[in-house]
Amino acid sequence: MLEKFSKWKGNRSNHTTPSHSLDESAIPKHVAIIMDGNGRWAKKKGLPRIAGHREGMKVINKIVRKAIDLKIEVLSLYAFSTENWKRPRTEVDYLLKLPERFLKLELPNLMEENVQVRIMGGLDTLPEHTAKAVTKAMEETKDNTGLILNFALNYGSRYELVEAMKQVAKEVETGTLSSDAITEDVISRHLMTADLRDPDLLIRTSGEIRLSNFMLWQLAYSEFWFTDVLWPDFTEHHLTEAIAVYQKRARRYGGV
Ligand code: FPP
Repeated sequence: MLEKFSKWKGNRSNHTTPSHSLDESAIPKHVAIIMDGNGRWAKKKGLPRIAGHREGMKVINKIVRKAIDLKIEVLSLYAFSTENWKRPRTEVDYLLKLPERFLKLELPNLMEENVQVRIMGGLDTLPEHTAKAVTKAMEETKDNTGLILNFALNYGSRYELVEAMKQVAKEVETGTLSSDAITEDVISRHLMTADLRDPDLLIRTSGEIRLSNFMLWQLAYSEFWFTDVLWPDFTEHHLTEAIAVYQKRARRYGGV
């Protein structure tokens, strides 16, 4: 148990090594991030929670640029979960204004950088202004061939799985799919990440060690990296550090 614990601790950031040289041939192709700690960041500074979210939005920009530099193929960011509706109305309203604000500022740059914006999550229950802004971004960037910037917005993995199961059941009911033909691949193709590879690396900031209903199926064999750094303080160096740790891991996928 002790050994296990120290091994676990060793996987967490100690923030003492800001620069890392990376093996360019082993960059994770899909990095997923649970951007956590905005509220605590704001509280520490005596600011309202929304100030933390505003600062958190600014960080996205820096991390997207770094992801492009590193030639990461897919960057998935957990921006708003199906559980986040439980927050005070003013905070929810603010959080759901951020995608629009971000895209207003950044869409021209994302176009220039050949970034393809995607959204996974329930668009139909978002405020109209949010849904409109993200739909426009997806439409405008759909032919871009560079980084896929995949925002999880109004996303919950269990909801996603339930919806996938319903679709599969319907296909069985109507006879287009036989129940014997249901494989892992069939389930994967019914998820919101249908044409995306599974994340190679999951990062969660703020010291919390849980998945919070994020990509439960897709993260089955991903490497996890946790840091105590709060999302508004997260920098390109932390991303590099996470990848350096990832590159030291032996991925065995259950084999030897
Ligand atoms: C978790 O921190 C963070 C969120 C629920 C929101 C994350 C959103 C952003 C970083 C900005 C989104 C921007 C765009 C463009 C989509 P928390 O509020 O739970 O922090 P706490 O645990 O310290 O309270």
